[in-house]
Amino acid sequence: MANLLLTKPLDMLLSEASETGEHSLKRVLGPINLIMLGVGAIIGAGIFVLTGSAAARYAGPAIVISYILAGIACAFAGLCYAEFASLIPIAGSAYTYGYATLGEIFAWIIGWDLILEYAFGAATVASGWSSTLIAFLQDYGIRIPPQICDTPGSIWVLFQDRWVPITTLAGKGIDLNVLPHVTAQFNLLAFLAILVVTTILVVGIQESATLNTTIVFVKLFAVVTFIAVAGAYVFHHQPQTRVNLTPFVPVAYGWAGVIRAAGVVFFAYIGFDAVSTAAQEAKNPQRDMPIGILGSLVICTVLYILVSFLLTGTVHYTRLNVGAPVSLAIRETGVKWGSYVVNAGALAGLSTVMLVMLLGQSRVFYSMSRDGLLWKWAGEIHPKFRTPYKSSIVVGLFVAVFAAVVPIGVLGELVSIGTLLAFVIVCAGIWILRVRKPDLHRPFKTPLVPFVPIMGMLVSLLMMVFLPWETWARMVIWLAIGMVIYFTYGRHHSKVQAVHAREVASAK
Ligand code: ALA
Repeated sequence: MANLLLTKPLDMLLSEASETGEHSLKRVLGPINLIMLGVGAIIGAGIFVLTGSAAARYAGPAIVISYILAGIACAFAGLCYAEFASLIPIAGSAYTYGYATLGEIFAWIIGWDLILEYAFGAATVASGWSSTLIAFLQDYGIRIPPQICDTPGSIWVLFQDRWVPITTLAGKGIDLNVLPHVTAQFNLLAFLAILVVTTILVVGIQESATLNTTIVFVKLFAVVTFIAVAGAYVFHHQPQTRVNLTPFVPVAYGWAGVIRAAGVVFFAYIGFDAVSTAAQEAKNPQRDMPIGILGSLVICTVLYILVSFLLTGTVHYTRLNVGAPVSLAIRETGVKWGSYVVNAGALAGLSTVMLVMLLGQSRVFYSMSRDGLLWKWAGEIHPKFRTPYKSSIVVGLFVAVFAAVVPIGVLGELVSIGTLLAFVIVCAGIWILRVRKPDLHRPFKTPLVPFVPIMGMLVSLLMMVFLPWETWARMVIWLAIGMVIYFTYGRHHSKVQAVHAREVASAK
């Protein structure tokens, strides 16, 4: 039993972090790249898609409070990630932090759990990307056959000259039986999107980061355009804005609705932690990892608060339960070019989320493989591209298939529960390490320990409790599959176990 709780010695971790050469990852990322990676992973389907339905169904104009609450919850976890990422700048992120503090079995659980966040996160966003693309193209009269645009079995109907998923028309008093309809077979668009992003990741970290930074500027431009255009509109239509924003917390929803919406829009913040998986590709990780993690979180929180406020100020929340609420709001202002910019920004935005999530996933596999817990091929670095190419390709194929066949709702909730579990373990790890090794040199220190880690754990657990039991069941099955792999492969090939066994033998 004790062997399952072996921790990976910090000096072993730090020597791995300082490896260089052909078989190591390439250190090219500076603080701006890292902030951009964070923003690239964070701003996506959450703000562009989920905000509208969360406002319409749970919080009304108080969705801005939900964003503030979710932002505070992420800040607790973000501060803990920042300390770990500067202390143990290894590509494995929460998996490695778990290995250093809680022991191998916990590290395995968290590594396996991170697949839910990164791989399933990329699949979720690929699915959202395909629906955004379809809506966008239909605005210009271009129709893609719905058979290749959604997961098998989803029904699409032709309504007002547009193909839409039948679920979006439910409860609107429309006779759906008279509308032409087709059944989707495979989400080819999502499948192809993941394959393209995977190819970029295989070719190089510098190329990936440069492309990411360029696209992040496009998406930031879209968000800032929305803020400027909607801000001017709200300023010039104050009586109407007051009507839209009153009552601020709809009586039917109450504060419970505001908290529920916080659990939904939490998805919009996921991704800041993915910065930590680039630790072995950062030039100066001790200094720059906290900048990347916290900088991107702060930027996105401010933007989210402004966007959600202006969204409900421009359009009455009852009208926001649509696939592209931000586009709807900008159309409402009458500024036509603005809607092109926002649509293009949303599409671009979602593509970088896929990129950074897939980057994170392959780096976690790389770290697990280097520790012997996963097969050797997963840690192999391409001699020319210096990327973990085999792991990127396998992850990419797996994610592409999932994105094409698993419904977005199922994927999204798995992502939330997986991420929240990672947050709980990271926060616990910070506290444990402070008690066990108080004297370590910590380039960045989480303030107010143990208050901040405890709050991070409590808030994350609370949000997990609000998720449906089916999601819990899926997570448990997923972790059980992981256990089978650990006990049949990982445990017998673990390097930390091997070192420990040698030490025990020589002590005899
Ligand atoms: N935060 C990411 C998004 O909203 C996952 O798409």
